[in-house]
Order: sequence, then C-alpha cells, then structure tokens
Amino acid sequence: MTRTPLIAGNWKMHLTRPEAVELAKAVAGASKGLTDREVMIAPAYLSLAAVKEAVTGSPVRVAAQNVAWEKQGAFTGEISPPMLQDVGVDMVILGHSERRHVFGEKNAMINQRLVGALRFGLTPILCVGETLDEREQGNTFKVVAEQLSQGLQDVQAEQMQQVVVAYEPVWAIGTGKTATKEQAQEVHAFIRTALEDLYKKTLADSVRILYGGSVKPENIDSLMAQADVDGALVGGAALQAESFARIINFT
Ligand code: PGA
Repeated sequence: MTRTPLIAGNWKMHLTRPEAVELAKAVAGASKGLTDREVMIAPAYLSLAAVKEAVTGSPVRVAAQNVAWEKQGAFTGEISPPMLQDVGVDMVILGHSERRHVFGEKNAMINQRLVGALRFGLTPILCVGETLDEREQGNTFKVVAEQLSQGLQDVQAEQMQQVVVAYEPVWAIGTGKTATKEQAQEVHAFIRTALEDLYKKTLADSVRILYGGSVKPENIDSLMAQADVDGALVGGAALQAESFARIINFT
C-alpha cells in the first residue's frame, strides 16, 4: 500500500497577512517539482484567501485550523465549510490539542465538526494524542482509541478515505521534546490497528497518519523512515521558510 506523504504546516495564531503571504510564497518555491509528496499550510482564517492566492499555480494545499459544521447560522466566532470553500480551501485541521486543551473541545464536538466537514467535501485532519499524565498512567492507547472511535463516529468507510489522522502527543507539542521514532511508530501502528477494527484492513492501510510534536529539520528524516509515519504536522518549525523547506525535502 503506497500512501503519499503529507507535510503540513500549522501556523497557529502567528503571522499577519503580509507575513503569511511572504512565507507562503517561500513554501511554494520550496515545493516546486515535488511530485512524490504533498505539502499543506494552515494559516489563520484571515490570511486564508491571500495565502491561497499566493500559492496558486504551485502544488501547495491550504487548510484552515478549524471549521464549524453548519452552512450558516447563529454560531458567533465560527467559520463554515462553504466560507472556506469560497476562498479555495479544501482541507481543515480538527481536534488539535490546543482546541481540546485550551478551548475545551470534546470528542463529541470534534466529531460534529468532522462529520460536517466531510458533508461539505472538505478533507479533515483529525488530531489525537495523549497528555503527559495520560502517558505516565499507561493510558496512551486508551485515550487515542477513544479519540479515534468518538471522533470518527458515523463516518462511513467511503468518507474515511478522505480523512487524515495526526498523532500529536500533547507533551511533545511546542516543547522541543519530540517523541522518539520508536514511540511515534508504536502509536502510529496502534492507530492503524484501531482503524482496522473500526473499518477494514485495506482502508486502514490507505489512511495517512501524520506525526506532530516538535518536528524539526534534525528529526524529520528518522521519523519519516518509520513504517507507519506518513507525514508530519509541524508547528514552530513551519514558521521559518528555511526549516520548513528542509522538512518538506525530507529524505
Ligand atoms: P510544534 O507544534 O511542531 O511546534 O510542536 C505541532 C502542532 O501543534 O501541530
């Protein structure tokens, strides 16, 4: 089973519009001619349209960092799938650890967002991952399995082909403390087995599972060499053109 690697940059709440456009152009430049992998960037909502325009003509995909589940309505502070599609966005990060732990989003709401995204034809990246406490208590697999089964509730097999999963151990995000390649592979393999239980082996084998949490130029190659690591979701190191270019060009 061949899974096209996906290197995704999550810009979080960083960069003004001109800064975002400048970085997007650099990412487009660094992605030129790459046909064996996909590159994605997720700027803040307000920069989506300008970034999309800046990468037009390049293979770089543009994603949002969250999305609501309805077309429109009384949802103050939210953005709808058609609003994203209107500016050319077709991917969305969902259930990021900061959404879960800073803003209190629970599996049920993340599932609602994911089902809504799929209903409108957006490609969701569902983030899962345990806190340090949960890891130390030996609950990593339990937490990840729950986030997967609850996050994917009511998602049919044919829709699942659209979904990307990202394993991001909370203790590794923004801390400089990357999971070792063995720790990453162990949980990625577990996720694939969990997907096999929820769907079928052929489908589980086709789902891309990204690793996220302090991915850097220094560790990308060894992470990508793991059998079940199909890409990376990169925060801090995606904010500098040079380091992200090195990550995109992993060997
Ligand atoms: P980090 O963030 O690379 O800065 O650890 C990853 C993420 O939050 O997706």
